[in-house]
Amino acid sequence: MADSIFDVVKQAPDDPILGLNEEFKTDPRENKVNLSIGVYCTEEGKVPLLNVVDTAEKQMVAEGAPHTYLPISGVPALATGVQKLLFGEDSPIIKEKRAATVQSLGGTGALKVGADFLCDILEKPKAVVSAPTWQNHVAIFEQAGFKVGSYAYYDKETGGIAFKKLIDDLKDLKKDTVVILHACCHNPTGVDLSLDQWKEVVKVCVKGKLIPFLDIAYQGFGDGLEEDAASIREFAKAGIPFLVASSFSKSFSLYGERIGALTVVCNNQEEASRVMSKLKSCIRANYSNPPMHGGVIVAKVLSDPELLKVWHEDLKEMRVRIKQMRRALADELKTIGAKKDFEFMVKQKGMFSFSGLSPEQVQRLKDEFGVYAVKSGRFCIASLNTKNVKYTAKAIKEVL
Ligand code: LMR
Repeated sequence: MADSIFDVVKQAPDDPILGLNEEFKTDPRENKVNLSIGVYCTEEGKVPLLNVVDTAEKQMVAEGAPHTYLPISGVPALATGVQKLLFGEDSPIIKEKRAATVQSLGGTGALKVGADFLCDILEKPKAVVSAPTWQNHVAIFEQAGFKVGSYAYYDKETGGIAFKKLIDDLKDLKKDTVVILHACCHNPTGVDLSLDQWKEVVKVCVKGKLIPFLDIAYQGFGDGLEEDAASIREFAKAGIPFLVASSFSKSFSLYGERIGALTVVCNNQEEASRVMSKLKSCIRANYSNPPMHGGVIVAKVLSDPELLKVWHEDLKEMRVRIKQMRRALADELKTIGAKKDFEFMVKQKGMFSFSGLSPEQVQRLKDEFGVYAVKSGRFCIASLNTKNVKYTAKAIKEVL
């Protein structure tokens, strides 16, 4: 065969999270457990259709609206709802119309549009991520043209935050460095900053003229919708420009609809309107405009007090069950005499737990027991249930 222009294409590695999820699906073992991808499953091991989504979707179908194009920025009511969720109803940011919000293809899409936008306006685009972080943060920002570094975050010795190092690292950054922060439910560790620690981080960002970019993919999975936005509210109070990537994949169990939002907080309304125009051109040149289905559902819920109540209940149910599973796994490991104490899992927030298992131990979990986890030792606790938790604990005990 003649030489091909694709001869130079090297096989890319499978994605460390999505690749594993695909592998899990083809594993024939009946007792397999998927702790790899961040997806919430019910006690029956199913991805739920939330009550609120079911209701909103039925309303949507009954309305029989045509499947026309959305505006480039998405469903208008979505932007209003997202800003209230992030900043609180009475926020000056909302009153002064200082934020530009666009609908995005999940939280990943929000990060990508934000990264493209920033890359275009920064002279030497540099971003830093927490060590460790969700692997895709690095990929997204590098692909957009950023140099990506890291700041200290997790302290392996204590299982807490390496706070002094974190602050020192942030203090060393040059003006206009983009600091990617997990607003709540840190992925992969499940270890969050306290409110006082957030205040310190905000101070350093203000002083160093850094650009905070908060990723809030799990709002509602930590302590509640309002509580989980506490970090964002601190940045809002500081009156500096910052960006937020919201995801509704998990909080509405709308994974496949790819629904999220990017919000850019500006100095004033005029600036926000210029920023919005630029975000729109970024989107137009990428995928033209966002899909409708998830956007309409989330917008409906966020703008209807009755549906909002149902959503709060749905979220609470998921949050409480994850906490119960944290407790159940830690207790079971203790009961069966695991060599290590896993009590720390109970304090971690959100879907994930950083187990402290080595890549070799994680490999054994998969090979010998069909228990899939990310190589870093991250477990998605949200896929545990009362039927698979004992088996999972036994498998962990065996590989320690
Ligand atoms: C995860 O971290 O597992 C989720 O955010 C899913 C993903 O896209 O990686």
